[in-house]
Amino acid sequence: MNDSILKIDPNINESADFLRARWKNQKPTTALICGSGWANISSGLTIIDEISYVEIKCLSKTTVDGHLSKLLLVKTSENFAVIFLGRRHYYEGVGWGPIAKPLLLCHEIGCKNLILTNAAGGIAETLNVGDLMIIKDHINFMGDNPLIGENQLSAVPRFPDQTEIYCRKLQNLAEKIGIEKSIKLKTGIYLALSGPAFETPAEIQAYKTMGVSAVGMSTVPEAIVGNALGFKILGISCITNKAAGISENPLSHEEVNQTSSESLPKMQMLIETLLAQIH
Ligand code: HPA
Repeated sequence: MNDSILKIDPNINESADFLRARWKNQKPTTALICGSGWANISSGLTIIDEISYVEIKCLSKTTVDGHLSKLLLVKTSENFAVIFLGRRHYYEGVGWGPIAKPLLLCHEIGCKNLILTNAAGGIAETLNVGDLMIIKDHINFMGDNPLIGENQLSAVPRFPDQTEIYCRKLQNLAEKIGIEKSIKLKTGIYLALSGPAFETPAEIQAYKTMGVSAVGMSTVPEAIVGNALGFKILGISCITNKAAGISENPLSHEEVNQTSSESLPKMQMLIETLLAQIH
């Protein structure tokens, strides 16, 4: 059993003090956590500060290829945002702490919006490789929940409501930007598994009958914790491959990273415009 992520952790306060002292009145209101292959998501943004995770006490280096371990502060038209280049995953085997701490930190420094991006395998027939999908809702199929355990945090209810984890208004904003910028956006249900093995074709067929659009190994724990902390959440999947048994080829992390890089320009445009228009 993992240690509870809801216990008061002095490292979070210390790290928040460190960022507040460094950034002074540049206060981020939005946090973005990036999935595989989007190390260059920030290339068109105004970067104010760049900090390696190892310099921030409550963060830790990612162990997955395609994920850097850097926190950026960027200036948007009216606000500031933080970008986590690199996320931790449950399959790394170090519990929920490393996944939840970025959210606890962002909550502590006053962020209100949370954008989660990921790479996903497409199940729905309407999804093609390279598509971007706005997550309407999710299914937690990880066999565990990051909120289990003693809760010392007053900001987190014991039984958080999850009727609208993904904010309708932020989905509408993303859709509006998609139309303005001619970025085709699909919508769907994301199902998360622990990984690290990809799914079997039989599993994918079972998820298809459940109404799942796409599968992946991230985002859901962050959305569960983010929702419990009161963030307004937007989730965007990049369909990097057709899921097992639907794809004609064996699945690989290289293909996931390759498709993410190819989709980078439209993801960049979407993210840049979102950060400029989100309030
Ligand atoms: N399955 C699980 N996770 C993934 C996939 C997939 O097909 N593609 C990218 N991440």
